[in-house]
Amino acid sequence: MLLVLLFLLSLPLSLSLNQEGLYLQRVKHGLDDPNGFLSNWNDRDDSPCNWYGIHCDSATRSVNKVDLSNANVAGPFPSLLCRLPNLSFLSFYNNSINSTLPVDLSTCQNLLHLNLAQNYLTGPLPVTLADLPNLRHLDLTANNFSGDIPASFGRFVKLEQLSLVGNLLDGTLPSFLGNITTLKQLNLSYNPFMPGRIPPELGNLTSLEILWLTQCNLVGRIPDSLGKLKRLTDLDLALNSLEGSIPGSLTELTSVVQIELYNNSLSGEFPPGISNLTALRLFDASMNLLEGTIPDELCRLPLESLHLYENNFVGNLPESIVNSPNLYELRLFRNQLTGELPKDLGKNSPLVLLDVSDNQFSGEIPSSLCAKGELEELLMIYNSFSGQIPKSLSECRSLTRVRLGNNKFSGEVPAGFWGLPYVSLLELVDNGFSGSIAKTIAGATDLSLLIISRNNFSGEIPDEIGRLENLFDFSGSNNRLSGSIPASMVKLGELGRLDLHNNELSGGFPTGIHSWKKLNELNLANNEFSGKIPEEIGSLSVLNYLDLSGNQFSGKIPLGLQNLKLNELNLSNNHLSGDLPPLYAKEIYRSSFLGNPGLCGDLEGLCDSRSEAKNQGYLWLLRSIFLLAGVVFIVGVVWFYWKYRSFKKAKKAIDKSKWTLMSFHKLGFSEYEILDCLDEDNVIGSGASGKVYKAVLSNGEAVAVKKLWGGSKLEDEKIENESGDVEKGNMEDDGFAAEVDTLGKIRHKNIVKLWCCCTTRDCKLLVYEYMPNGSLGDLLHSSKGGLLEWRTRYKIAVDAAEGLSYLHHDCVPPIVHRDVKSNNILLDGDFGARVADFGVAKVVDATGKGPKSMSVIAGSCGYIAPEYAYTLRVNEKSDIYSFGVVILELVTGRLPVDSEFGEKDLVKWVCTSLDQKGVDHVIDPKLDSCFKEEIWRVLNIGLLCTSPLPINRPSMRRVVKMLQEVGPETQPNTAKKDGKLTPYYYEDTSDHGSVV
Ligand SMILES: *[C@@H]1O[C@H](CO)[C@@H](O)[C@H](O)[C@H]1NC(C)=O
Ligand SMILES: *[C@@H]1O[C@H](CO)[C@@H](O)[C@H](O)[C@H]1NC(C)=O
Repeated sequence: MLLVLLFLLSLPLSLSLNQEGLYLQRVKHGLDDPNGFLSNWNDRDDSPCNWYGIHCDSATRSVNKVDLSNANVAGPFPSLLCRLPNLSFLSFYNNSINSTLPVDLSTCQNLLHLNLAQNYLTGPLPVTLADLPNLRHLDLTANNFSGDIPASFGRFVKLEQLSLVGNLLDGTLPSFLGNITTLKQLNLSYNPFMPGRIPPELGNLTSLEILWLTQCNLVGRIPDSLGKLKRLTDLDLALNSLEGSIPGSLTELTSVVQIELYNNSLSGEFPPGISNLTALRLFDASMNLLEGTIPDELCRLPLESLHLYENNFVGNLPESIVNSPNLYELRLFRNQLTGELPKDLGKNSPLVLLDVSDNQFSGEIPSSLCAKGELEELLMIYNSFSGQIPKSLSECRSLTRVRLGNNKFSGEVPAGFWGLPYVSLLELVDNGFSGSIAKTIAGATDLSLLIISRNNFSGEIPDEIGRLENLFDFSGSNNRLSGSIPASMVKLGELGRLDLHNNELSGGFPTGIHSWKKLNELNLANNEFSGKIPEEIGSLSVLNYLDLSGNQFSGKIPLGLQNLKLNELNLSNNHLSGDLPPLYAKEIYRSSFLGNPGLCGDLEGLCDSRSEAKNQGYLWLLRSIFLLAGVVFIVGVVWFYWKYRSFKKAKKAIDKSKWTLMSFHKLGFSEYEILDCLDEDNVIGSGASGKVYKAVLSNGEAVAVKKLWGGSKLEDEKIENESGDVEKGNMEDDGFAAEVDTLGKIRHKNIVKLWCCCTTRDCKLLVYEYMPNGSLGDLLHSSKGGLLEWRTRYKIAVDAAEGLSYLHHDCVPPIVHRDVKSNNILLDGDFGARVADFGVAKVVDATGKGPKSMSVIAGSCGYIAPEYAYTLRVNEKSDIYSFGVVILELVTGRLPVDSEFGEKDLVKWVCTSLDQKGVDHVIDPKLDSCFKEEIWRVLNIGLLCTSPLPINRPSMRRVVKMLQEVGPETQPNTAKKDGKLTPYYYEDTSDHGSVV
């Protein structure tokens, strides 16, 4: 009875869905809707007016607006929408619409507003778009449209906004755009147009407020006619090849607020009359060939931001700038400016950033720089500044980055300055500073990089330095520091580099250095250190550079050194004695041990007695071989017995304890089968956290089993990945289970499958699919790197990008990997790549606040995004940076950090090598040069991903798209490359040099 009633009730309703609703139903069926945004588009309503994204006219109840922005729908463009007679607003902003744009779009006669930005639309721009008589806003930004802008676009009659940014338009920038006199915004940036001039006709667009032509392949001069754009507020011509001088007519742009001319080839001096631009707030003409002085009248404008870096400006910075009431950012680095900075600079301006690096400035630091208490970055490297750091800066608590290196500063650093609470980078290298490091440094809790080499610092390193738990790099070489290394320093768990060579330090190693888990470089050369080199040094698994030469270390060389993968080892000129560790008893290490009279080994010349009795050496050698063989045999037997016992014990323990199994896929094997395979013979990798086994199951299938042991409670709270990078999270069992659960649910062809996870109270097994070709890092950087030809590398890049894109964009909530590196990209039998090792992955907080700031740096040396060092915050953008490094590895075949790069990492090395020596010097010589064009394009994507500013890095989804565009099938006919880098990723270029 009830059922019948319900049926009767619902029947008339479903029949009464109006025609508009029925059209929308059909639209829904044509779209893929993985997140169910369209789930309330149902046929039980009588009209669609309450459906998600639908708005109706309140009087007629007819649909006038369809807004499906950010709904993650996919499929072809639904031109059926044009059957909605009153549709005036249509937005599919940020979805995956992936067809061409149909010509019958022109039947949307009432459309005022069309936003299809951030989709995957392809093909030409439809000629018929101009037939939409009422169209005011057309936004097709970030799609894959190609070809010309159709001539019909000159006929738009009401169009106010035309945005075609970030497409593949490769025709010319047409002059008929000057016919659309209703335009207020013309945004054509980032298209590979053919080289062409700015059409002077654009000067006819007298209503224009925004003209955005960044990176449009523009050449020639800026036309005078642009001066007619009296309403223009935003003129952006950056990243082109414009030449000639800045036209005087631009001084007629009386409404202009922002002018961006950076990265062109503009030359000559500023035109007179700049003071007419009274509305101007932001001016950027950096990276050009401008010369002459910085005009006084420019400095009199109430500017907020002035960027003139990388030009040829000479002379002083005009005194008038001190009255600038809004100035917060001033970047003038890499010019030839001279004289002193105005004394009152900062007195009246809320300065946040001052970068005057690489000039010839002299005199003292103005004491008023931080008068408004806003100064965050003070960058003055490579000048001739002198005098002391003003006392006033010790109170400048807003400071985060301070670089005063390579100047002529002297005197003591004020005590308060050492302890500024938010400074993450303090660089004073190459000056004449004296005095000691003050105990107040305890307050600098954010300090990550402390670089004070090549000064006259003296006295002891204060014990308080052990409180700087974020300290990553302490470089204090070439000073007169004395006393011993404070015992507290072993608490610095983040320490990656400790360089104190050429000082007067003494005493021994502090005890407990095994906690320097991330130490990569240790240089204590040429001091007066003594005592033994602790055996613990062998546990610093990422140590790569070890120089203890020129000290008085004594005793034996720890055998543990053999565990390390050292690129540089220097123990020469000490008092070491005993035998060389066998691994190092090789000719190539000879110079590492010279000058230790007590040291014996098979290296000729090291040990005096050896060279005297050369012909007895042979007999001696035979004897020692026999002796050694005997010892090895006995040790082997004992070891085997002991191993066997502990194996039995372990086995018993496994059997006894109760296993809980979480499986994420239908398993063709049982957990007990896996346990039987955990044999030492099957170990394929190991790290500080445990071992990885290959297990071949009874059904012939192989799996990889990662065994995480945790003995004590403390150990339980750590999850480490193979390379030993430690992450202390709240990895209690629940957290672990939840995380594993999330990761287990991931299904993607480019993500390593987690089959299941078995847990007991003190042991966890993660069972992954087995990847026969191992990790990309191992393969690429081994002698087998040549096996990876370009097509394979390209495919690996695309695969890995798709995997990461899936984590970032398709997982709900999104997942940040946090340790993207070539060692975490695994290769299957066909060199298909899969992203692996979520040891440190974090699910982004569902509240959308993003992951919490972490107390420690996750990730691996060489892959860590620069912002990490000072924000300690990760988001997707940090993954994108790391992925960019992987791309650079693929292109260059080089390691992310290599002693050959000197102070640089791979990213910096690529940038400077490109600049100085050209592309050919950068590309892996093992790669076939006929792919050069393609390799070059991939390299550019890598550089884009490694932009210093996170905001400039493309999203992972965009990266996939860009990589695919490079591919052999979809190669668009691009404009010729001149081998010069388009350097939009050089934004923060003053930070060349040695540190982040
Ligand atoms: C467009 O997206 C749909 C839904 O995701 C997919 O099935 C289709 O293959 C895609 N088409 C193209 C041309 O990529
Ligand atoms: C633009 O306007 C000019 C002058 O009115 C006209 O000659 C030209 O044909 C127009 N171009 C287009 C493409 O509509």
